[in-house]
Amino acid sequence: MRLRRKGDLLCTFLLLTTFGILLYIQMRSDTPWLDKPEQRRQAGTERYALLGSTKTATRLALTSSSPGSERVCQPGQQLDTAREQRLTSAPSNLLPWNYRQYLWQKDCREFRQIINQENKCRKVRGEQLLLISIKSRVEEFERREVARKTWAREGEVRHLQVRRLFLLGIPANQSSLASWSRLLEQESQTYQDILLWDFQDTFFNLTLKEIHFLKWLDQFCSSAEFVFKGDDDVFVNVENIADFLADADPKDDLFVGHIIYQALPIRSNKSKYFIPEMMYGPGVYPVYAGGGGFLMSVHTARRLYQASKEVDLFPIDDVFLGMCLLRIGLEPLTHEGFRTFGIVRPSAAPHMQTFDPCFYKELMVVHSLKVPEIWLMWSLLHDPKLDCARKGSMKRPFRWRVKRKSPSPSVWTLKH
Ligand SMILES: *[C@@H]1O[C@H](CO)[C@@H](O)[C@H](O)[C@H]1NC(C)=O
Ligand SMILES: *[C@@H]1O[C@H](CO)[C@@H](O)[C@H](O)[C@H]1NC(C)=O
Ligand SMILES: *[C@@H]1O[C@H](CO)[C@@H](O)[C@H](O)[C@H]1NC(C)=O
Repeated sequence: MRLRRKGDLLCTFLLLTTFGILLYIQMRSDTPWLDKPEQRRQAGTERYALLGSTKTATRLALTSSSPGSERVCQPGQQLDTAREQRLTSAPSNLLPWNYRQYLWQKDCREFRQIINQENKCRKVRGEQLLLISIKSRVEEFERREVARKTWAREGEVRHLQVRRLFLLGIPANQSSLASWSRLLEQESQTYQDILLWDFQDTFFNLTLKEIHFLKWLDQFCSSAEFVFKGDDDVFVNVENIADFLADADPKDDLFVGHIIYQALPIRSNKSKYFIPEMMYGPGVYPVYAGGGGFLMSVHTARRLYQASKEVDLFPIDDVFLGMCLLRIGLEPLTHEGFRTFGIVRPSAAPHMQTFDPCFYKELMVVHSLKVPEIWLMWSLLHDPKLDCARKGSMKRPFRWRVKRKSPSPSVWTLKH
C-alpha cells in the first residue's frame, strides 16, 4: 500500500516535471525571435528590426538565416512566411507598399552573377593595386564613358596600378532600352570593366549591389591593396588619392570618406530616404560614409564582407555599410577632400559661370556632377598651363565664353 502511494507520488511528480518542460518549450517557440537557439544571443536586435522597440540606437538587426546557409535567389521570389505574417498583422497604413515588399524580399540576398571579370585584379609585377569600382546603371552609358576617358583610366598613377569596374544590375525599366543586354555585352567585351548581377537595379537594391560587390572582391580581388567605391556622377582626383595612400599600409584597416555622424532616419514618406519606425526604431544611424565615394583597404573590405553576412539588409546602402563598420568595430576616418554631398559644385553660380580649378586641385572626390562637368574638371586640372602656385590665380577664376563666329554656337573655349 505504502509502496503504491510512493509510486503514485513519483508518477505525479514526473508528469508535472514533463508538463513544466513542455510548457517552457511551448513558450519559447511562441516567441518568434527565439525560434532558433543560435538566434537567442541576438534576440533584442531582431526585435529591434521588426518593431523598432529597443532604445539603443546602435543595436543592429541580424539576418534570421545563419551565415553559410546562402541560396541563390530568383528575381521576384518571396520568402520567409513567418516574417510575412508578422508584417501583415502590422497596421498597413504605416508602410508604403514598397517597404512591405522590401521586407518580404529582403531575406533573398544571393543573386547570380551574369558578367564577371575574373582577371581584373591579376598583378603583372609586385605593384600595388587600386581598384576603382563605380556604381552605375545600364542606362548611364555616357557617365561610364566619361569616367573611362578621364579620371577612371586604367594604368599607373604614382606608385599604384589603377583598375576600373562598373557595378550593374538588371535595368528596372527595360522598355526604355530594349536591346540593353546585347549592348552591355558589347560594352563589356570592349572595355572588360563590367560586373552584372541578376537583380533589379533600383535604389532600394543598392545594398544588394554592395554585398555582391564585397563578395566579388573577397573572391576575385583579394590580391589588390585598395579599393575606391563611388557613384558614376563623381569626379575623383586619383593622383591625390594615390598621394594619400603613399604612406598607408595595405595590411591595416583603412576606411576614409565623408563621414556622417549622428544622422537621424528620415520619417517623411515623401523622401526617397524614408525609413518607417518599424524598420529602424528611434535613434541615430551608426556612423557611416557618404556613398558618393569612399576609400578602403581590401583588408577592411574583406572584413566588411564577413560582417555583411550577419547584418540584416537595410535599404540605404551607405547606412548598411555603417552597420557593418560598427560590427567590426572600425571607426571610419573623415577627410576634407571627400565632398560627397556635391555642395561644392564647380560653381555656386547658375550654369557654371565661374570655375576655379585650383580650388578642386586639393580635393579627392566631388559628387553630383553632370557628364560635361566631369569632363571639364578633368581637362582643366590636367591643363599644363594650370599654375595654382601663382599668386592671384584665385582672383581670376575661369569663365565661360561663347565663340560667336564658330560654326556651331555650342563651342566653348577657355579664356586665359
Ligand atoms: C504618407 O503619410 C501620410 C500620413 O502620414 C498618408 O496619408 C499617405 O498616404 C502616405 N503616403 C504614402 C505614399 O504612403
Ligand atoms: C519606362 O520607359 C519608357 C520609355 O522611356 C517610359 O515611357 C515609361 O514611362 C517607363 N516606365 C516606368 C515605369 O518608368
Ligand atoms: C530587388 O531586386 C529583386 C530581384 O530582381 C526584385 O525582385 C525586387 O523587387 C527588387 N527590390 C526593390 C526594392 O527594388
